Amino acid sequence: MAVKLVTVPEAHAAKVYSTERVGISKATHDAHLALWQGYARKTNEIRTKLPEMDIDPATANQIYSEMRALKVNYAFAYGGYINHNVYFETIGGEGGPATGAVGDLINDAYGNFDHWLNDWKATGMAGRGWVFLGYDHDEERVHTYIGDSQDTFPAWNHTLLLAMDVYEHAYFLDFKTARLKYIEAYVQVIDWDAVNARLPK
Ligand SMILES: [Fe+2]
Repeated sequence: MAVKLVTVPEAHAAKVYSTERVGISKATHDAHLALWQGYARKTNEIRTKLPEMDIDPATANQIYSEMRALKVNYAFAYGGYINHNVYFETIGGEGGPATGAVGDLINDAYGNFDHWLNDWKATGMAGRGWVFLGYDHDEERVHTYIGDSQDTFPAWNHTLLLAMDVYEHAYFLDFKTARLKYIEAYVQVIDWDAVNARLPK
């Protein structure tokens, strides 16, 4: 069975580093991109192990078993890979009010952009790891979600449009523990064109 492996794209780097203008530094991104590589490596390691393992439902165990370790940590590793993919894909822009179809969806769901922005910032202060903007295919609207870990997600049947990392590794070097200052900087560099490009056609 062929194993499909994931990679971290190198091409984001130049755009990502432009966030230095708001105080999110190259040093932060270099350390952060290395962490993203770690999620990719572990995703690939588990993907490689799963087809090779001796699968036995009689020994798989919910307290501890190799199957449990691989499956639980697979969601964490691949979730972390995807979350960072969206984070780095959608920063390095001009910020400002959301544009295009995403702007319309935000206005429909939240009344106006400023209301959504306040919600986004407050969600960022209330979350432990991530804030997600997801497009809900069932209700054809967007919602803002907390992701407390790499493996906590928006509800089913969503497309992830925007992901803001609020783990301290995303800002401590530049803002120490002042998370709100980081969030205020982050929203000035959202790339709304890249967010729109993630909307399902
Ligand atoms: Fe991160």
